[in-house]
Amino acid sequence: MSKDKNKVKIGLLGAGTVGSGVIKALQNHAFVEIKKIGVKDLNKKREFVSALNGNKPGAGHSPPLLTSNLNEIVSDPEIEIVVEVLGGLIPTKELVTLAIKNKKHIVTANKDLIATYGPELFDLAKENNVQIQFEASVCGGIPIINTLKQTLSANSFKKIIGILNGTTNYILTEMLNKNLSFDVCLKEAQKLGYAEPDPINDISGKDSAYKIAILASIAFHERIKIDEVYTEGIQKITLEDILLAEELGYRLKLIGVAGKESDGKIDIRVHPAFIKKTNTLSSVLGANNGVLVEGDLVGELTLIGKGAGSMPTASSVAGDINLLVAQISSSQKPNPQFVCQHTSFAKIKSISETTNCYFLRIKTEDKAGVVGQLGTIFGNHDVSINTLTQRCTNLDNTASITMLTHLVKEEKIQEAITEIKNANVVKQVENVIRVLE
Ligand code: HSE
Repeated sequence: MSKDKNKVKIGLLGAGTVGSGVIKALQNHAFVEIKKIGVKDLNKKREFVSALNGNKPGAGHSPPLLTSNLNEIVSDPEIEIVVEVLGGLIPTKELVTLAIKNKKHIVTANKDLIATYGPELFDLAKENNVQIQFEASVCGGIPIINTLKQTLSANSFKKIIGILNGTTNYILTEMLNKNLSFDVCLKEAQKLGYAEPDPINDISGKDSAYKIAILASIAFHERIKIDEVYTEGIQKITLEDILLAEELGYRLKLIGVAGKESDGKIDIRVHPAFIKKTNTLSSVLGANNGVLVEGDLVGELTLIGKGAGSMPTASSVAGDINLLVAQISSSQKPNPQFVCQHTSFAKIKSISETTNCYFLRIKTEDKAGVVGQLGTIFGNHDVSINTLTQRCTNLDNTASITMLTHLVKEEKIQEAITEIKNANVVKQVENVIRVLE
């Protein structure tokens, strides 16, 4: 039975890094009581248990029940809000679905869940007259989702550019600051806990793709199929690329970009990019995240902060809980700005249709006519060269040529690159990186 009738009862699915942060953030909350906490292993030692037990005298709290039966949480009639901080899709999707069917509001920090099953879950939530809040699913502590949904709702958005993944931003920052290779910095990041033992979701750009898909769907009022988001990670980035970017006045970052084009299509993608040092995002360093939005009324706006971690993520989860509690306590109808209202799927621009400037690093033979041949091939494919530098004659008698192009369609530059790779004088196209202008 409930310990405090006036408080909104919450059930927590998961008590790991984020979950334990949420427990701390909600300690002694005036209007919220955590009734049950669902964990996989009841025998695991958990710091927060003693903190919760310490609440008992005088504070009007009794310790919540720890259970490994997660179904108990989503079906408890007293629980009004289910807070999902388990992560992953299995068994999370099934549990969240059951919770919604049992008329529970959802607060989740799970970007995979929202980006993959959002449309289905939002429809189900509407049918059951409950809400799903997911501020913590994108950029942990940065309040970007509800800012787009509510505070900036009068704007029509032109673009969103985000440094959405702390792990890769940490690695790129370390490579630059310490002149180290990708592999060394990845290992260091794993040792310090910034990167997972299996870092593939982060370094491949998948994590950023989930996040930009969620942001784009809110900003442009259309659903995004995650598989249609072009995604390229940082595995091929070398220290040389990073240092050359700096020399040319840019900084190399892994970015998620989304924009609505005049033909109604959404240009949405994740890839490494040179961004101008004058762009605020270039100063987003280490494990921090940053999101730049451009609205027709507000102009450009950048939010920077901690994109992960126990307490920053708990800040967003607890904010979402407060939002729901305010509605529940005052029997308000859900504010329509916080409810998913769009139902159609966006038409996504394919990467080959996008237009960018490009940085290229090409290793060639060092002899007369090489630059001329490259120039001819680029010219034949409408690629206009902005700058071209032959960096040095290497010990193996090859030359390293670096180039920046003017704006050109991706399909044109790819055609040119295919031809260049086959030219006799070319040893290797070492890297091609998009440049944000
Ligand atoms: N793995 C993510 C990152 C945090 O490195 O930013 C959770 O989304």
